[in-house]
Amino acid sequence: MRTYHNSEKLLERALKTIPLGSQTFSKSKTQYPLGVSPFFIQRGIGSRVWDVDGNEYIDFINSLAAVTLGYQDPDVDSAVAAQLRQGVIFSLPHPIEMEVAEKIVELVPCAEMVRFGKNGSDATAGAVRLARAFTGRDHVAVCGYHGWQDWYIGSTARNRGVPAATKALTHTWTYNDIGTLEKVFQAFPQDIAAVMLEPMNLIEPQPGFLQAVKDLAHKHGALLIFDETVTGFRYAIGGAQQVFGVTPDLATFGKGLANGYPVAAIAGRADVMRLMEEIFFSFTFGGETLSLTAALATMQKLEREPIIETLCRQGQTVIKQLQSIIAAADATDFLGVAGHPTWSFFTIKDSGNYTMWQIKTLFLQEMFARGILTIGTHNMSYSHTDDDLRKLLQAYSEVVPMLTEAVKRGTLGSALRCEPLEPLFKVR
Ligand SMILES: Cc1ncc(COP(=O)(O)O)c(C=O)c1O
Repeated sequence: MRTYHNSEKLLERALKTIPLGSQTFSKSKTQYPLGVSPFFIQRGIGSRVWDVDGNEYIDFINSLAAVTLGYQDPDVDSAVAAQLRQGVIFSLPHPIEMEVAEKIVELVPCAEMVRFGKNGSDATAGAVRLARAFTGRDHVAVCGYHGWQDWYIGSTARNRGVPAATKALTHTWTYNDIGTLEKVFQAFPQDIAAVMLEPMNLIEPQPGFLQAVKDLAHKHGALLIFDETVTGFRYAIGGAQQVFGVTPDLATFGKGLANGYPVAAIAGRADVMRLMEEIFFSFTFGGETLSLTAALATMQKLEREPIIETLCRQGQTVIKQLQSIIAAADATDFLGVAGHPTWSFFTIKDSGNYTMWQIKTLFLQEMFARGILTIGTHNMSYSHTDDDLRKLLQAYSEVVPMLTEAVKRGTLGSALRCEPLEPLFKVR
């Protein structure tokens, strides 16, 4: 049986100097049951990673969907190594900035001009400031997860430290329910600067929904912003806006842009983007060349090879076969699959005497034990082989019946070798 002793020792040590022991909430101990989980990864190549106890996994998290090609992609990493020999960052801009901007303009329907950031939150916060400056309005309407900064996180349950005045400016509405957005506009008919949404996460847009959002936003003089932090360069080279045929005024990108190197982007209409010259959107590392080189190499590879096609095909296999496994176990009342083939989710509902968190804990325990790294995600990468998929589906074909039996017979407690996860802050 796998052990996680080194991980656990390192976690104990990390917690002395690092709150949560992690820089990212979704990578922290809050998500991983103690005793049956790894907490630290040492290295990765292709679709495989190794934890600090030497356990090997096929990774279906892929750094929270930032890695689309696979770890240590040779084309991306050799371009980065060549740039490293020239220097990382300078005292004036480097030409790579415009090369990446030009490539995004070529590939993404809404993109006429582009600015860069590091994390997705840089881009979403910058886009909101830009929309406020452009429209002269303060309020925003949001649907989905848009990052850690005050303007957004104040609208969620994890809003400590955000001033009430800031919280009052952000209004949430519900995906595929245009009436909820209409209500926001009824309450603030002249005040909404932007409607921001993830064009899709778990469920597909109903026919006409995204266009209706665009029309409603424009009718009220607001800008439409697609948060394509995950969907960009994953659903299609031109993002979800290309797949669904609705072009926003602005779009934000992050994770999928550079195969794991830290770079984000705001792209959009030139007349809006020009106003970037008058707001303040500026930071020391915005033009850092290694990540921009990685972005260019990633986009060039996306153009050269059938990457998105492969992610879609492989992801579709996962969805279809997992649906059959769930149906065969007669567990469709509490287990399911949702999302796009390139970014899908194993979904769990409360069932019998158990909460979804208890059921998820058993799921994680058993998937990790079988060498599958997942938090319920199938974040596909170009490195996943047919054999990786076979192993994932083999693990599901053992674990889904085990979950079903534990829930239906009321034996989940005795199947767990750890304390269940605490109910968590969830954004989608
Ligand atoms: C849709 C979406 N927007 C914004 C963000 C924030 O990006 P970051 O964590 O890189 O700041 C995320 C991160 O998970 C995201 O999924």
